[in-house]
This record gives sequence, structure tokens and C-alpha cells, in this order.
Amino acid sequence: MGCPTKVDGVTPPALRPTRRPARTLTELRGLLAEAGSLTSADAPSGPVGQARLAGGSAGAIDGDAVLQDVVLQGVTHDSRAVRPGDLYAALPGAHAHGAAFAAAAVAAGAAAVLTDAAGAAMLAGAVTVPVVVTEGPRRDLAQVADWLYGQPSRRLTLLGVTGTNGKTTSAFLVDAGLRAAGQRTGLLGTVETRIGDERLDSVRTTPESADLQALFAVMVERGITAATMEVSSHALAQHRVDGLRFAGALFTNLSQDHLDYHPTMRDYFEAKAKLFEPERSAAAVIGTDPAAGSWGAELAARVPGALTYAPDPSADWWPDDLVMSERGSTFTARGPRGVEVPVRVHLPGRFNVVNALGALALLVTAGVPAEAAAAGIGELTGVPGRMERVERGQPYLALVDYAHTPDAVETVLTSVRGLIDGRLIVVLGCGGDRDRAKRPLMGAAAARLADLAFFANDNPRSEDPADILAQMSAGASRAGTSAAKVTVIPDRAEAIAAAVAEAGPGDAVVIAGKGHERGQEQHGVVAPFDDREVLAAAILAALGGPPGDGAADGGVGGAPGSGSRAVRR
Ligand SMILES: Nc1ncnc2c1ncn2[C@@H]1O[C@H](COP(=O)(O)OP(=O)(O)O)[C@@H](O)[C@H]1O
Ligand SMILES: [Mg+2]
Repeated sequence: MGCPTKVDGVTPPALRPTRRPARTLTELRGLLAEAGSLTSADAPSGPVGQARLAGGSAGAIDGDAVLQDVVLQGVTHDSRAVRPGDLYAALPGAHAHGAAFAAAAVAAGAAAVLTDAAGAAMLAGAVTVPVVVTEGPRRDLAQVADWLYGQPSRRLTLLGVTGTNGKTTSAFLVDAGLRAAGQRTGLLGTVETRIGDERLDSVRTTPESADLQALFAVMVERGITAATMEVSSHALAQHRVDGLRFAGALFTNLSQDHLDYHPTMRDYFEAKAKLFEPERSAAAVIGTDPAAGSWGAELAARVPGALTYAPDPSADWWPDDLVMSERGSTFTARGPRGVEVPVRVHLPGRFNVVNALGALALLVTAGVPAEAAAAGIGELTGVPGRMERVERGQPYLALVDYAHTPDAVETVLTSVRGLIDGRLIVVLGCGGDRDRAKRPLMGAAAARLADLAFFANDNPRSEDPADILAQMSAGASRAGTSAAKVTVIPDRAEAIAAAVAEAGPGDAVVIAGKGHERGQEQHGVVAPFDDREVLAAAILAALGGPPGDGAADGGVGGAPGSGSRAVRR
């Protein structure tokens, strides 16, 4: 879970600017030569052809006459997305080398291929277009796309958000602040990609570099002035955001996740820390809540001029006069140089106070007036699947949340505990084919902090769901004697109904792990499943209402009529 978690199974077509770039292959080779990227390895020998001339040594003077005729009008790493005139980047992948699809790319109109030595060897004699060979084509692709599309990110106020938890929420809050300040905004993240008022489903938290640069080019073309993006550790490690220039970057926190990808926590941290290198980000805002561990403080000490935020007066930004309720919180944000601004955030939970504070600090650091930033934050009524209230007239709090790491489960349950007097009931599962180490920890956190816990399937993907549930239960059984009563109900809808059946006045039901997702993936099949709809239907059924119309009206928290509209101060 966490990173490419889109389970709706639909890949939206990659966007391209209508004004297509036109750079020559010779210019491309000049760029790569200057960057020292072109490999000295000669292209495979054999009958002379355009491919071999171009794929030869960096100097290849005899090839230049041919090369100048090749005009590059776009770039992609996906052979299925190739458009005529594209540079096709044939990258080494975990399962296959992109070179295996180069012939298809050329058939679709690719004008040239960028690859590594292994790819070039696979292509020997197989394609009729020039082949450019570099040491690290994945890294080069980001720079090439940035250059080809005319460095679009530099024509936007670009703000980046990284961290284990809170990226999507913080990015939505930042976007709301930018809009309140009169910017025309773009937003890129887990839930959706937004260009002004147009919304597209996101395939992954951070797109591949060529798609990302094309998207920024589209944004510039459509008059977008500022964009906020979630930057995953995978994206940083895989050079997807190389070449981007951020006006400011936010670090929310770091805790265990993705240890299937990063060998150690330090490796994971270093991937995130890359975003804060001065050549990438002009300003840094870093969460240093000690309750979230010490990684933030370590990063802040390393980044010159970084500003910190935490629920603690020793941070540069901190929340004073905090009042929390089921419907959100109010506080006075205190910042550097005596800044003091009242903030209302409609997302419940203490951690969303911290998220709002970080968003505000980033906005102000990037030049947005504090009052406008706070007004925007106050106008955001909710973030899909993040502490999202489901209200069907029931006498207890019902929330859908995307907590899918041990820290998020702990944070959310602790936060909700502070909002209620009654019992805390949680439904939780863990994703298959992802970091296994976090399963017992998530199970333990639920057992330790809830009164009743139902362990249910999340997205088992290719794994046996029973194994995942057993790993969670093993963690829960180590949680101690005061732990919650744990019941395993693999069928997620049944588990949700069982949780609702237990809930009474003053209680809270938290459905954790899948948030905004609209499908459940088991054995390679994605079936429609939306926690919000299933929860609403279960609540109505328990109240004795007509079964099965849970999704009928927009009573989900934050929607008009749910009583959770912003109250401006
Ligand atoms: N500041 C925070 N600290 C700890 N947990 C958080 C924080 N913000 C959000 N969470 C938890 O993490 C989950 C994912 O939040 P989200 O905003 O989608 O972050 P991300 O994009 O980093 O996954 C939320 O549903 C909530 O359970
Ligand atoms: Mg996200």
C-alpha cells in the first residue's frame, strides 16, 4: 500500500501539451554529452545503418548529418504511450528491459531510442531509428524531459510534500491555501491529479518523470500558476523528480513503511532527504514533532535555513489555544517574527492540527499571506478517505481513514480516543505484496489502542489473505492483557457490519486502511469496494433503514448538508 495504490484498474491516458516541443537529436546528444552521461561504449558493430551511426560513440561526427534530421516532439518510457516523433526511453525494469518493447515503440512512431548498454545490445539490428546509449537512462530521462518541455516546473510556483504519512492531506491543505491566495492551481498526488478545476484519477502518488514533465507543460499551457505535489520516496530514489525546482518543500514525518523497497530506515530517510537539497528546493519546512520520532530534527539540522513545525513552542511554527472536536480543530498558529494567525481545520484529530500547521508554514514560507493561507485551510471541508466522516443519523462517530502504517494506525486511534467518551472500534487490514514487517506492528497498534478490533481483508493482491490476517493476529497477541478484543472476519463488508453492530452512543467506528479507494484487489481481480459506501449502508441497515442505499445521498463527511460546512471566523 502507500505508493502505487490505485486499484481502480484504469490507467488514464498520459497527458501531453498541445504545443509539442521540437528539439533535434543532435541537441539531445549535446545535452547528454555536457552532462557526461553518454556512454563511451560503442554501439554493436554490424551493417552500417542509422541506428548504429547514432548509437555510436558520443563524437559520431559522420552521423551528425543524418541526426540533424531527427526532430523530437515528446518523450515517454511506455511503449504503449508512444506518439509519432517521440523519444522512447527503453529503461531497465524489475521484470523486463524496456528495450524488449522498442520495436513496438518504433512501429508507433518513435523517432529515436534512449537506453543503456544492455538495452543497446538487445536492440542491435532490431530497430531502424537512432539509438542513444547512456549509463543511467532513467536518471537522464528526467533531465531530458525537463529540457524537452522547456523546464515547465520553473514557470510555476511548485511546492513539494514528502514524508511517510500526511502527504495527501497536507497537499490538499496547501492547495486550498494557494487557491485562496488567488492562484490557479495544479495538484498531484495519491487521490487525484488536478489541473485547475479538471480532475483526473492518479495512477501512482508521483508519476514517472516523462509523464510528470508533460503534465507540468500542460499546466503551464492552461494558465496554472502554482502546483502542489506529493513526492514519494520511490520517486526520489528513482529520479522521477530530478530537474524539478521547488519553491518550497515540506517534510511531514518518517516512520516505518516501504521496507520492502528500502533496505533500512536510514536508506528510506536519505531518499526523502534528497528533496531538501538546495538545488531542488528553495525553502524547507520540516515537521519535528518528537512524538513522530527524531528523523525530522535530524533533517532540520542538516538543511540550512529550514523552518520547523511541531505541537511544541520550541518549533518555529506551533499551535497555541488549541481546541479539538469531532468536527475539526481551531488554534492560533504562531510563527517566526511574531506571526500569529487564527486557523480552523475541518479534519478531526490532533495530527491534522499538525498537518494544517505544516501547510500554513509552507504557504507563508513560499510567500502566501498568512491570512489567505489560513482562510484557504478553513475552506477545505475534507480530504477523500482521510478522517472522512460518514453520517447517516447514527449516534456515534463513524470515520473512514487511510491509515496503513503502524504509526498512522497509532496516531489515528490515539487521536480518535481523545475525541470520544465511549468505545473505540476499529476495522483494519494490511495490503498484500507490500512491506510485510508492518503487519504485526499494525495488528499490535490496533489491539493496544482500540476496545474492539476487527481484522479484515484490505487488498490481499496475490497473497493468501489468511496469511496476512495471521501475521496481524500474531502482532495483536503480543499486545498484552489490556488489549482490545480482536475478531478476525476476512470479508471486509461483514467486518464493517459487525463493527457497526457493536457501536452505540458516544462510540467511534474507524474503518482504516483503504480510505478513498474504490476497489478491492484479490488474486489480480479488482472488485468495486468503497469503505465509505459500505460503512454508510451498514449504518443504515443497523438503524433499520432501507438496506443497500448507503451511497444514495452525499452524506459523507464534508459534503453539503452533512452539517460539516466551514464556519468562517
Ligand atoms: N501528520 C500525520 N502523522 C501521522 N499520521 C498521519 C498524519 N497525517 C495523516 N496520517 C495518517 O496517515 C494516513 C494517510 O494520510 P495521507 O494524508 O494520505 O498521507 P500519505 O499521502 O503520506 O499517505 C491518514 O489516513 C492518517 O491515518
Ligand atoms: Mg498520498
